[in-house]
Amino acid sequence: TIEGIVAREILDSRGNPTVEVEIGLDDGTIARAAVPSGASTGAFEAVELRDGVKDRYNGKGVENAVANIEDRIVEQLLGYEASEQRLIDQKLLDIDGTADKSELGANAILGVSLAVAKAAASSAELSLFRYLGGPNAHLLPVPMMNILNGGAHADSNVDVQEFMIAPIGAPTFRDALRSGAEVYHALKAVLKKKGLSTGLGDEGGFAPDLPSNAAALDLIAEAVQAAGYQLGTDIVLALDVAATEFYKDGSYVFESAQKSADEMVNYYAKLAEAYPIVSIEDPLAEDDWAGWSAMTASLGSKLQIVGDDLFVTNPQRIARGIAESAANAVLVKVNQIGSLTETFDAVELAHRNGFRTMMSHRSGETEDTTIADLAVATGSGQIKTGAPARSERVAKYNQLLRIEEELADAARYAGAGAFPRYRS
Ligand code: PGA
Ligand code: ZN
Repeated sequence: TIEGIVAREILDSRGNPTVEVEIGLDDGTIARAAVPSGASTGAFEAVELRDGVKDRYNGKGVENAVANIEDRIVEQLLGYEASEQRLIDQKLLDIDGTADKSELGANAILGVSLAVAKAAASSAELSLFRYLGGPNAHLLPVPMMNILNGGAHADSNVDVQEFMIAPIGAPTFRDALRSGAEVYHALKAVLKKKGLSTGLGDEGGFAPDLPSNAAALDLIAEAVQAAGYQLGTDIVLALDVAATEFYKDGSYVFESAQKSADEMVNYYAKLAEAYPIVSIEDPLAEDDWAGWSAMTASLGSKLQIVGDDLFVTNPQRIARGIAESAANAVLVKVNQIGSLTETFDAVELAHRNGFRTMMSHRSGETEDTTIADLAVATGSGQIKTGAPARSERVAKYNQLLRIEEELADAARYAGAGAFPRYRS
Protein backbone atom coordinates (compact mmCIF):
# COMPACT_ATOMS: atom_id res chain seq x y z
CA THR A 1 0.00 0.00 0.00
CA ILE A 2 1.31 3.44 -0.95
CA GLU A 3 2.12 5.38 2.19
CA GLY A 4 4.08 8.33 0.91
CA ILE A 5 5.49 9.98 -2.21
CA VAL A 6 8.34 12.47 -2.40
CA ALA A 7 9.46 14.36 -5.50
CA ARG A 8 12.55 16.44 -6.17
CA GLU A 9 14.42 18.29 -8.89
CA ILE A 10 17.68 16.58 -9.92
CA LEU A 11 20.06 17.00 -12.88
CA ASP A 12 20.14 14.97 -16.09
CA SER A 13 23.15 14.05 -18.22
CA ARG A 14 23.14 17.44 -19.97
CA GLY A 15 23.08 19.33 -16.69
CA ASN A 16 19.41 20.21 -17.06
CA PRO A 17 16.85 19.72 -14.29
CA THR A 18 14.53 16.72 -14.30
CA VAL A 19 12.05 15.05 -11.94
CA GLU A 20 12.87 12.27 -9.49
CA VAL A 21 10.18 10.49 -7.47
CA GLU A 22 10.39 8.25 -4.41
CA ILE A 23 7.51 6.09 -3.25
CA GLY A 24 7.25 4.42 0.14
CA LEU A 25 4.97 1.48 0.88
CA ASP A 26 3.58 0.39 4.24
CA ASP A 27 5.82 -2.72 4.20
CA GLY A 28 8.92 -0.51 4.30
CA THR A 29 9.67 -0.67 0.56
CA ILE A 30 11.14 2.49 -0.93
CA ALA A 31 11.59 2.85 -4.70
CA ARG A 32 12.89 5.65 -6.86
CA ALA A 33 12.55 6.64 -10.52
CA ALA A 34 13.86 9.53 -12.62
CA VAL A 35 12.52 11.02 -15.84
CA PRO A 36 14.54 11.42 -19.09
CA SER A 37 14.37 14.35 -21.53
CA GLY A 38 14.79 14.72 -25.30
CA ALA A 39 16.42 17.38 -27.49
CA SER A 40 15.07 16.44 -30.93
CA THR A 41 11.57 16.11 -29.51
CA GLY A 42 8.53 15.34 -31.64
CA ALA A 43 5.80 17.98 -31.86
CA PHE A 44 3.20 15.40 -30.76
CA GLU A 45 4.93 14.28 -27.56
CA ALA A 46 3.23 14.64 -24.18
CA VAL A 47 4.16 17.96 -22.57
CA GLU A 48 7.29 18.17 -20.45
CA LEU A 49 6.50 20.86 -17.91
CA ARG A 50 9.29 23.44 -17.53
CA ASP A 51 9.03 26.42 -15.18
CA GLY A 52 10.07 29.04 -17.73
CA VAL A 53 11.65 31.16 -15.00
CA LYS A 54 14.54 32.65 -16.98
CA ASP A 55 16.97 33.21 -14.10
CA ARG A 56 16.70 29.57 -12.91
CA TYR A 57 18.37 26.99 -15.17
CA ASN A 58 17.58 29.18 -18.19
CA GLY A 59 13.88 28.53 -17.72
CA LYS A 60 14.32 24.75 -17.58
CA GLY A 61 13.52 24.24 -13.89
CA VAL A 62 10.92 21.61 -12.98
CA GLU A 63 9.75 22.99 -9.63
CA ASN A 64 6.18 23.22 -10.89
CA ALA A 65 6.15 19.55 -11.93
CA VAL A 66 7.56 18.63 -8.50
CA ALA A 67 4.90 20.80 -6.80
CA ASN A 68 2.19 19.15 -8.90
CA ILE A 69 3.24 15.76 -7.56
CA GLU A 70 3.35 16.92 -3.96
CA ASP A 71 0.20 19.08 -4.01
CA ARG A 72 -2.07 17.33 -6.49
CA ILE A 73 -1.01 13.70 -6.81
CA VAL A 74 0.25 12.37 -3.47
CA GLU A 75 -3.00 12.59 -1.54
CA GLN A 76 -4.96 10.94 -4.36
CA LEU A 77 -2.71 7.89 -4.46
CA LEU A 78 -2.39 7.11 -0.75
CA GLY A 79 -3.94 3.75 0.04
CA TYR A 80 -3.59 2.27 -3.48
CA GLU A 81 -1.78 -1.05 -3.79
CA ALA A 82 1.38 -0.39 -5.81
CA SER A 83 0.52 -3.40 -7.99
CA GLU A 84 -2.59 -1.61 -9.30
CA GLN A 85 -0.55 0.01 -12.06
CA ARG A 86 -3.35 0.47 -14.58
CA LEU A 87 -5.72 1.96 -12.00
CA ILE A 88 -3.03 4.28 -10.70
CA ASP A 89 -2.00 5.44 -14.17
CA GLN A 90 -5.66 6.01 -15.05
CA LYS A 91 -6.05 8.05 -11.87
CA LEU A 92 -3.05 10.17 -12.88
CA LEU A 93 -4.58 10.79 -16.31
CA ASP A 94 -7.90 11.73 -14.70
CA ILE A 95 -6.29 14.22 -12.33
CA ASP A 96 -4.46 15.76 -15.28
CA GLY A 97 -7.54 15.81 -17.50
CA THR A 98 -5.79 16.86 -20.74
CA ALA A 99 -4.89 14.85 -23.84
CA ASP A 100 -1.24 15.97 -23.79
CA LYS A 101 -0.63 15.88 -20.01
CA SER A 102 0.02 19.62 -19.98
CA GLU A 103 -1.84 20.21 -16.71
CA LEU A 104 0.40 18.17 -14.37
CA GLY A 105 3.25 17.64 -16.85
CA ALA A 106 4.21 14.31 -18.41
CA ASN A 107 7.41 14.51 -16.39
CA ALA A 108 5.40 14.58 -13.15
CA ILE A 109 3.07 11.76 -14.22
CA LEU A 110 5.80 9.50 -15.61
CA GLY A 111 8.01 9.87 -12.52
CA VAL A 112 5.18 8.63 -10.33
CA SER A 113 4.12 5.92 -12.78
CA LEU A 114 7.62 4.40 -12.99
CA ALA A 115 8.27 4.66 -9.26
CA VAL A 116 4.98 2.82 -8.57
CA ALA A 117 6.12 -0.10 -10.76
CA LYS A 118 9.52 -0.25 -9.08
CA ALA A 119 7.94 -0.17 -5.63
CA ALA A 120 5.55 -2.98 -6.55
CA ALA A 121 8.40 -5.10 -7.93
CA SER A 122 10.54 -4.51 -4.90
CA SER A 123 7.66 -5.27 -2.53
CA ALA A 124 7.04 -8.55 -4.39
CA GLU A 125 10.79 -9.29 -4.13
CA LEU A 126 11.02 -9.60 -7.90
CA SER A 127 13.42 -8.00 -10.35
CA LEU A 128 11.65 -5.29 -12.29
CA PHE A 129 11.81 -7.21 -15.59
CA ARG A 130 10.19 -10.29 -14.00
CA TYR A 131 7.54 -8.25 -12.24
CA LEU A 132 6.65 -6.40 -15.46
CA GLY A 133 7.16 -9.26 -17.91
CA GLY A 134 6.16 -12.37 -15.98
CA PRO A 135 7.87 -15.77 -15.93
CA ASN A 136 8.31 -15.93 -19.71
CA ALA A 137 10.38 -12.73 -20.03
CA HIS A 138 13.70 -14.05 -21.31
CA LEU A 139 14.67 -12.23 -24.54
CA LEU A 140 17.75 -10.00 -24.27
CA PRO A 141 17.63 -7.11 -26.76
CA VAL A 142 20.19 -6.29 -29.42
CA PRO A 143 21.97 -3.15 -28.19
CA MET A 144 21.75 -0.51 -30.93
CA MET A 145 24.85 1.43 -29.95
CA ASN A 146 25.05 4.99 -31.18
CA ILE A 147 28.79 5.46 -31.69
CA LEU A 148 28.76 8.49 -33.99
CA ASN A 149 26.51 11.45 -33.13
CA GLY A 150 25.34 14.19 -35.47
CA GLY A 151 22.25 16.37 -35.91
CA ALA A 152 20.83 18.03 -32.81
CA HIS A 153 23.06 15.94 -30.55
CA ALA A 154 26.37 17.30 -31.82
CA ASP A 155 27.97 20.56 -32.89
CA SER A 156 29.30 18.95 -36.08
CA ASN A 157 28.09 19.38 -39.67
CA VAL A 158 26.70 15.82 -39.93
CA ASP A 159 22.95 15.73 -40.76
CA VAL A 160 22.09 12.20 -39.61
CA GLN A 161 21.59 12.24 -35.85
CA GLU A 162 22.67 8.71 -34.96
CA PHE A 163 24.95 6.09 -36.52
CA MET A 164 24.44 2.84 -34.66
CA ILE A 165 26.13 -0.54 -34.64
CA ALA A 166 24.09 -3.65 -33.89
CA PRO A 167 26.20 -6.71 -32.91
CA ILE A 168 23.76 -9.31 -34.20
CA GLY A 169 26.31 -12.11 -34.57
CA ALA A 170 27.14 -12.40 -30.88
CA PRO A 171 25.81 -15.44 -29.00
CA THR A 172 24.88 -13.51 -25.85
CA PHE A 173 24.11 -9.95 -24.78
CA ARG A 174 27.35 -9.89 -22.83
CA ASP A 175 29.36 -10.71 -25.96
CA ALA A 176 27.35 -8.21 -27.99
CA LEU A 177 28.20 -5.46 -25.52
CA ARG A 178 31.86 -6.38 -25.59
CA SER A 179 32.06 -6.27 -29.37
CA GLY A 180 30.29 -2.91 -29.39
CA ALA A 181 32.72 -1.47 -26.85
CA GLU A 182 35.67 -2.79 -28.85
CA VAL A 183 34.39 -1.17 -32.04
CA TYR A 184 33.79 2.08 -30.12
CA HIS A 185 37.44 2.12 -29.03
CA ALA A 186 38.61 1.18 -32.52
CA LEU A 187 36.59 4.08 -33.92
CA LYS A 188 38.33 6.47 -31.57
CA ALA A 189 41.70 5.24 -32.85
CA VAL A 190 40.56 5.58 -36.49
CA LEU A 191 39.41 9.17 -35.89
CA LYS A 192 42.65 10.07 -34.13
CA LYS A 193 44.76 8.61 -36.93
CA LYS A 194 42.87 10.73 -39.47
CA GLY A 195 43.19 13.89 -37.40
CA LEU A 196 39.42 14.02 -36.73
CA SER A 197 37.83 15.14 -33.47
CA THR A 198 37.25 12.55 -30.77
CA GLY A 199 34.96 14.84 -28.79
CA LEU A 200 31.62 13.32 -27.81
CA GLY A 201 27.99 14.13 -28.54
CA ASP A 202 25.06 13.97 -26.11
CA GLU A 203 24.67 10.19 -26.33
CA GLY A 204 28.34 9.38 -25.89
CA GLY A 205 29.21 8.79 -29.57
CA PHE A 206 32.03 10.63 -31.33
CA ALA A 207 31.02 13.83 -33.11
CA PRO A 208 33.55 14.76 -35.82
CA ASP A 209 32.94 17.11 -38.75
CA LEU A 210 32.70 14.99 -41.91
CA PRO A 211 32.31 15.60 -45.67
CA SER A 212 29.14 13.44 -45.91
CA ASN A 213 26.90 11.06 -44.05
CA ALA A 214 28.32 8.14 -46.00
CA ALA A 215 31.76 9.15 -44.72
CA ALA A 216 30.53 8.34 -41.20
CA LEU A 217 29.57 4.84 -42.34
CA ASP A 218 33.00 4.36 -43.95
CA LEU A 219 34.73 5.29 -40.69
CA ILE A 220 32.54 2.87 -38.74
CA ALA A 221 33.20 0.12 -41.31
CA GLU A 222 36.92 0.69 -40.85
CA ALA A 223 36.55 0.53 -37.06
CA VAL A 224 34.56 -2.71 -37.22
CA GLN A 225 37.30 -4.30 -39.28
CA ALA A 226 40.07 -2.90 -37.07
CA ALA A 227 38.35 -4.42 -34.04
CA GLY A 228 38.43 -7.83 -35.74
CA TYR A 229 34.75 -8.15 -36.67
CA GLN A 230 32.99 -8.84 -39.94
CA LEU A 231 30.68 -6.08 -41.11
CA GLY A 232 27.38 -7.56 -42.27
CA THR A 233 27.56 -10.73 -40.22
CA ASP A 234 28.99 -9.96 -36.79
CA ILE A 235 27.93 -6.35 -36.83
CA VAL A 236 25.33 -4.50 -38.89
CA LEU A 237 24.40 -0.83 -39.03
CA ALA A 238 21.39 1.32 -38.18
CA LEU A 239 20.55 5.01 -38.53
CA ASP A 240 18.35 7.52 -36.78
CA VAL A 241 18.06 10.29 -39.34
CA ALA A 242 15.71 12.43 -37.19
CA ALA A 243 14.56 14.04 -40.46
CA THR A 244 12.00 16.34 -38.83
CA GLU A 245 14.96 18.41 -37.68
CA PHE A 246 15.92 19.37 -41.26
CA TYR A 247 12.47 19.46 -42.87
CA LYS A 248 11.79 23.06 -43.94
CA ASP A 249 8.80 24.32 -45.95
CA GLY A 250 7.96 20.95 -47.49
CA SER A 251 11.46 19.80 -48.40
CA TYR A 252 14.44 18.15 -46.76
CA VAL A 253 17.55 20.30 -46.41
CA PHE A 254 20.07 17.48 -46.50
CA GLU A 255 23.78 17.54 -47.39
CA SER A 256 23.39 21.20 -48.38
CA ALA A 257 20.65 20.50 -50.97
CA GLN A 258 16.85 20.60 -50.99
CA LYS A 259 15.39 17.14 -51.47
CA SER A 260 11.87 15.77 -51.91
CA ALA A 261 10.61 12.74 -49.97
CA ASP A 262 11.15 10.60 -53.12
CA GLU A 263 14.73 11.77 -53.39
CA MET A 264 15.32 10.92 -49.75
CA VAL A 265 13.86 7.42 -50.28
CA ASN A 266 16.17 6.93 -53.29
CA TYR A 267 19.11 8.07 -51.19
CA TYR A 268 18.24 5.52 -48.46
CA ALA A 269 17.84 2.76 -51.06
CA LYS A 270 21.35 3.43 -52.37
CA LEU A 271 22.81 3.68 -48.88
CA ALA A 272 21.23 0.36 -47.86
CA GLU A 273 22.73 -1.27 -50.96
CA ALA A 274 26.21 0.03 -50.21
CA TYR A 275 26.23 -0.73 -46.47
CA PRO A 276 24.66 -3.49 -44.32
CA ILE A 277 21.99 -1.25 -42.82
CA VAL A 278 19.12 -3.07 -41.10
CA SER A 279 17.12 -0.23 -39.62
CA ILE A 280 16.39 3.42 -40.39
CA GLU A 281 14.56 5.57 -37.87
CA ASP A 282 12.72 8.78 -38.76
CA PRO A 283 13.87 8.79 -42.42
CA LEU A 284 11.16 11.40 -43.06
CA ALA A 285 9.46 14.16 -41.09
CA GLU A 286 6.79 13.67 -38.43
CA ASP A 287 4.03 15.15 -40.67
CA ASP A 288 5.05 13.55 -43.96
CA TRP A 289 2.71 10.52 -43.76
CA ALA A 290 2.69 10.10 -47.56
CA GLY A 291 6.48 10.04 -47.63
CA TRP A 292 6.55 7.39 -44.90
CA SER A 293 4.09 5.17 -46.77
CA ALA A 294 6.17 5.50 -49.96
CA MET A 295 9.34 4.65 -48.01
CA THR A 296 7.74 1.58 -46.44
CA ALA A 297 6.28 0.39 -49.76
CA SER A 298 9.66 0.58 -51.47
CA LEU A 299 12.08 -0.47 -48.69
CA GLY A 300 9.97 -2.03 -45.94
CA SER A 301 10.58 -5.62 -47.02
CA LYS A 302 14.34 -5.23 -46.60
CA LEU A 303 14.64 -2.63 -43.88
CA GLN A 304 13.20 -1.96 -40.49
CA ILE A 305 11.59 1.48 -40.75
CA VAL A 306 11.15 2.96 -37.31
CA GLY A 307 8.79 5.74 -36.31
CA ASP A 308 10.00 7.92 -33.44
CA ASP A 309 8.82 11.52 -33.93
CA LEU A 310 6.16 10.05 -36.23
CA PHE A 311 4.55 7.88 -33.53
CA VAL A 312 5.77 9.47 -30.26
CA THR A 313 4.83 6.16 -28.52
CA ASN A 314 1.21 7.25 -28.89
CA PRO A 315 -1.28 4.40 -29.59
CA GLN A 316 -3.46 6.70 -31.72
CA ARG A 317 -0.60 7.68 -34.00
CA ILE A 318 0.67 4.08 -34.11
CA ALA A 319 -2.82 2.94 -35.16
CA ARG A 320 -2.72 5.41 -38.06
CA GLY A 321 0.74 4.16 -39.01
CA ILE A 322 -0.54 0.59 -39.08
CA ALA A 323 -3.57 1.55 -41.18
CA GLU A 324 -1.44 3.48 -43.68
CA SER A 325 1.56 1.08 -43.67
CA ALA A 326 3.69 4.09 -42.83
CA ALA A 327 6.48 2.12 -41.10
CA ASN A 328 7.09 -1.37 -39.72
CA ALA A 329 8.51 -0.60 -36.29
CA VAL A 330 7.95 1.73 -33.33
CA LEU A 331 10.52 3.47 -31.20
CA VAL A 332 9.34 3.31 -27.59
CA LYS A 333 10.14 6.18 -25.22
CA VAL A 334 8.34 6.22 -21.89
CA ASN A 335 8.37 10.01 -21.57
CA GLN A 336 6.93 10.62 -25.03
CA ILE A 337 3.60 9.22 -23.86
CA GLY A 338 4.12 9.78 -20.15
CA SER A 339 2.91 6.67 -18.30
CA LEU A 340 3.90 3.03 -18.03
CA THR A 341 0.41 1.73 -18.88
CA GLU A 342 0.25 3.68 -22.12
CA THR A 343 3.77 2.51 -22.97
CA PHE A 344 2.63 -1.11 -22.61
CA ASP A 345 -0.45 -0.33 -24.72
CA ALA A 346 1.77 1.11 -27.45
CA VAL A 347 4.05 -1.95 -27.48
CA GLU A 348 1.12 -4.36 -27.47
CA LEU A 349 -0.59 -2.56 -30.35
CA ALA A 350 2.64 -2.64 -32.36
CA HIS A 351 3.40 -6.31 -31.72
CA ARG A 352 -0.17 -7.46 -32.42
CA ASN A 353 0.06 -5.83 -35.83
CA GLY A 354 3.42 -7.24 -36.80
CA PHE A 355 5.36 -4.07 -36.03
CA ARG A 356 8.65 -4.48 -34.20
CA THR A 357 9.58 -2.29 -31.23
CA MET A 358 12.84 -0.74 -30.07
CA MET A 359 13.02 0.39 -26.45
CA SER A 360 14.78 3.75 -26.20
CA HIS A 361 16.48 6.24 -23.92
CA ARG A 362 16.42 10.03 -24.49
CA SER A 363 19.42 12.19 -25.28
CA GLY A 364 19.03 13.64 -21.78
CA GLU A 365 19.24 10.71 -19.35
CA THR A 366 19.80 9.84 -15.70
CA GLU A 367 21.13 6.85 -13.77
CA ASP A 368 17.63 5.31 -13.89
CA THR A 369 17.70 1.93 -15.69
CA THR A 370 13.98 1.16 -16.04
CA ILE A 371 14.12 0.88 -19.85
CA ALA A 372 16.53 -2.06 -19.64
CA ASP A 373 13.99 -4.06 -17.65
CA LEU A 374 11.20 -2.84 -19.89
CA ALA A 375 13.01 -4.08 -23.01
CA VAL A 376 13.19 -7.61 -21.57
CA ALA A 377 9.71 -7.47 -20.04
CA THR A 378 8.12 -6.61 -23.39
CA GLY A 379 10.32 -8.92 -25.47
CA SER A 380 11.20 -5.98 -27.69
CA GLY A 381 14.38 -7.59 -28.98
CA GLN A 382 16.05 -4.21 -29.48
CA ILE A 383 17.20 -1.39 -27.23
CA LYS A 384 18.95 1.83 -28.07
CA THR A 385 20.60 3.57 -25.19
CA GLY A 386 23.60 5.30 -26.68
CA ALA A 387 27.29 4.59 -26.89
CA PRO A 388 28.94 1.91 -24.76
CA ALA A 389 30.43 4.77 -22.71
CA ARG A 390 29.24 7.45 -20.24
CA SER A 391 27.50 6.22 -17.13
CA GLU A 392 23.95 7.34 -17.94
CA ARG A 393 24.14 5.19 -21.13
CA VAL A 394 26.16 2.30 -19.74
CA ALA A 395 23.88 2.04 -16.69
CA LYS A 396 21.21 0.51 -18.94
CA TYR A 397 23.63 -1.88 -20.65
CA ASN A 398 25.02 -2.91 -17.26
CA GLN A 399 21.50 -3.61 -16.01
CA LEU A 400 21.00 -5.91 -19.02
CA LEU A 401 24.16 -7.78 -18.03
CA ARG A 402 22.62 -8.35 -14.60
CA ILE A 403 19.33 -9.48 -16.12
CA GLU A 404 21.11 -11.93 -18.43
CA GLU A 405 22.99 -13.28 -15.43
CA GLU A 406 19.79 -13.69 -13.40
CA LEU A 407 18.08 -15.52 -16.27
CA ALA A 408 21.08 -17.82 -16.65
CA ASP A 409 20.32 -20.66 -19.10
CA ALA A 410 16.84 -19.28 -19.76
CA ALA A 411 18.26 -16.13 -21.38
CA ARG A 412 18.14 -15.86 -25.16
CA TYR A 413 19.88 -13.10 -27.08
CA ALA A 414 17.68 -11.69 -29.87
CA GLY A 415 20.60 -11.42 -32.33
CA ALA A 416 19.93 -11.55 -36.05
CA GLY A 417 16.31 -12.63 -35.57
CA ALA A 418 15.50 -9.10 -34.44
CA PHE A 419 15.61 -7.76 -38.01
CA PRO A 420 13.66 -8.64 -41.16
CA ARG A 421 16.65 -8.68 -43.49
CA TYR A 422 18.50 -11.18 -41.35
CA ARG A 423 15.60 -13.37 -40.28
CA SER A 424 16.62 -16.99 -40.79
P1 PGA B 1 16.03 12.81 -28.33
O1 PGA B 1 16.79 11.91 -29.37
O2 PGA B 1 15.98 12.11 -27.03
O3 PGA B 1 16.84 14.07 -28.31
O4 PGA B 1 14.64 13.04 -28.90
C1 PGA B 1 16.63 10.52 -29.44
C2 PGA B 1 16.00 10.12 -30.73
O5 PGA B 1 15.68 10.97 -31.61
O6 PGA B 1 15.76 8.93 -30.91
ZN1 ZN C 1 14.85 9.27 -32.98
